[in-house]
Amino acid sequence: MARTSPTLLLIWLCASCTSGDADDTSSGGTSDGADTSGAADDATTEGVAAVPTDAAAMTAWLADDGYAGWSAETAAHASTGPHGRVLTFFNDDLVASFDGGNTTHPVGSASVKELLADDDNVTGWAVMVKTAAGDDAASWYWYLAMGDSVSAEGNGLGTCDGCHAATGIDRVLTPYPLQ
Ligand code: HEC
Repeated sequence: MARTSPTLLLIWLCASCTSGDADDTSSGGTSDGADTSGAADDATTEGVAAVPTDAAAMTAWLADDGYAGWSAETAAHASTGPHGRVLTFFNDDLVASFDGGNTTHPVGSASVKELLADDDNVTGWAVMVKTAAGDDAASWYWYLAMGDSVSAEGNGLGTCDGCHAATGIDRVLTPYPLQ
């Protein structure tokens, strides 16, 4: 079966998102008033309070390894989607949700996907965070960046949701248990 190349898809993703730049962070239903910038050392709790849902805070949190300690796949691998070479992480809320057999994940569930160069250096991140109950597209916050250059960000983004909604378990596509 023919597939569009990952590179082309990523270029398409970036191009199609530039018009929707939302750097207004006021809308999310979550009040993550906590200072996330220095949270890596002492933040052991997970959920929406610990996972930022605006671009600037997310970029800083990722650079700070905010997801260190999350459950991870055992080895980097080629994405079966448009994400290149990847290593995926689930937070405890998402792991517990899969363990419980949920088909709709609870608020606070989150996944970070490291986007890797051939030498496994981290070049970027794709992130999804459940910010509202239910299974609407708008219940997930999406984020995509290469380095600190954010190319997609916000709730219910069609560029991410279309693919993830099609076959994912409440939009999560990575096989569980993590491999
Ligand atoms: C063409 C289909 C497609 C599009 C578009 C897409 N993804 Fe994915 N994504 C996948 C597939 C397939 C996986 C499963 C793991 C893998 O093979 O990469 C995945 C995995 C992920 C994961 C790990 C959690 C999970 O669902 O497994 C995150 C986070 C993620 N994508 C974020 C994004 C973001 C952010 C966007 C939009 C900017 C996006 N994706 C657009 C196909 C897609």
